Amino acid sequence: KRITWDVAAAQKGGYKHFMLKEIFEQPKVIADCLAGRVDLAAGRALLPELASLPTPERLFIVACGTSFHAGLWGMYLLEQWAGVPTRVEIASEFRYRDPILLPGDVVVAISQSGETADTLAGIRLARERGAKVIGLCNVVGSSVARESDVVVYTQAGPEISVASTKAMCSQLTALTLLALSLGEITGRMSRQARVDCLANLEKLPSVLEAELPRMRERAAVLAKTFSESSSFLYLGRGPYYPLALEGALKLKEISYIHAEGYAAGEMKHGPIALIDPRFPTFALAPVDELFPKVKSNLEEVQARGGKIIALTNPGSDLRVDHVWEIPKAWGPLTTFLMLPALQMFAYEMADYLGKDVDQPRNLAKSVTVE
Ligand code: G6P
Repeated sequence: KRITWDVAAAQKGGYKHFMLKEIFEQPKVIADCLAGRVDLAAGRALLPELASLPTPERLFIVACGTSFHAGLWGMYLLEQWAGVPTRVEIASEFRYRDPILLPGDVVVAISQSGETADTLAGIRLARERGAKVIGLCNVVGSSVARESDVVVYTQAGPEISVASTKAMCSQLTALTLLALSLGEITGRMSRQARVDCLANLEKLPSVLEAELPRMRERAAVLAKTFSESSSFLYLGRGPYYPLALEGALKLKEISYIHAEGYAAGEMKHGPIALIDPRFPTFALAPVDELFPKVKSNLEEVQARGGKIIALTNPGSDLRVDHVWEIPKAWGPLTTFLMLPALQMFAYEMADYLGKDVDQPRNLAKSVTVE
C-alpha cells in the first residue's frame, strides 16, 4: 500500500485548518511571550529592549486590522496602570492627517508581519517628526523591526492562516508587559498589583489549555444554531469593546457574514434600530464593574426580540438565550480567555458554511501596498 504524504496536512499537525491549530496554540503563545520577561518576586515585567528610551509622556499606538484592535485594548491598560496618555490610531489615518508629535511622545507600531505598508509609513512619519518608535512585531528582521528605534518581539511563531488569531493573543501579552513595565516606572501601579497581575498572567496558559476543547464544542453548537443569520451585532465595554470589534472582524473575514462591533453604550445611538428576532447580538459580558451596564443593554435588546449570545463568567445572573460561561481571570486578563471563544465561533461558523477558512476571498495575510 502506498502512503501518500501531504505537506500541508502535516504542517497542520492534525488540525483541519491552520486557523484552528493557531487558536489552539494560544496557551503556548502566552507562555512564549512571557518567557524570560517576568520577575515575579519583584513584580517586574522585564523589557530590556526599552532601556534606551525615555519614559514616554504620551503614547500613540498605530496599527491596522487585528493589530489595531490589540492596540485599542492596550490603551485601557496603559492609561489605567501606567497613567500615560495614550491614543490609538488606524495607521492609514495617522499617516495622512498631519499628527502633532511633541518631544517625549513615543509611537508604538503594532504589526504581526512587520510589512504592512500603512504602519510602515506611520513609523517613517513619526521618526521624521522626532518621535521615538517602539515596534511591537512578530517577524524578526521585518521592515517594522528594522525601521523602529527599538523592537519588542511578540514571539508567537509563524502565523499561516490569513485571519489573525494567535498573533493578537501575543500582542495583548506584550502590551500587558509594556503597561506593567511603565506602571512601575511611573509609580502608578503598586508592587502588589504588579505581582498579582504577573502571577495571574502566568496562570493563563494552563487555564486556557483546559478550556479550549470545551470552547470549541460550544462554538460549534452555536454556529449551527445561528448559521442562517446574515448579520450580527457585537457589543462590549471597556477593554472588551476592542474585543467586540475583533469578534465582528473575525466573523466577517472568514464566514462573510456581516457583523458590526459597537461599544455597548453606543447601542442606543443607532444599532438598536436594527434589533429584531433575525438580528442576533453577541455580547461580551464579563462579571466586572461594568457588568450591570452591559446587562441593562442586553435587556434592551431582549425587549425588542433580539436573540443573544453572551460570553460571561460563572456567577453572572444573565438571563439570555445563550449564556456562554468562560472562567474569570484577574482584572482585564479575562480578555485572554474570551478572545479564543470569539475566534472559535467565527471559525466554526465559516467551517459549517463551507468557506475557505485559511484563505478567505479578497484578503491578504499582509497588506504591503496601499
Ligand atoms: C491584514 C491581515 C490581518 C492583519 C492586518 C494587519 O489585513 O489580513 O489579519 O491584522 O493585515 O497586519 P499586521 O501584519 O500589520 O499585523
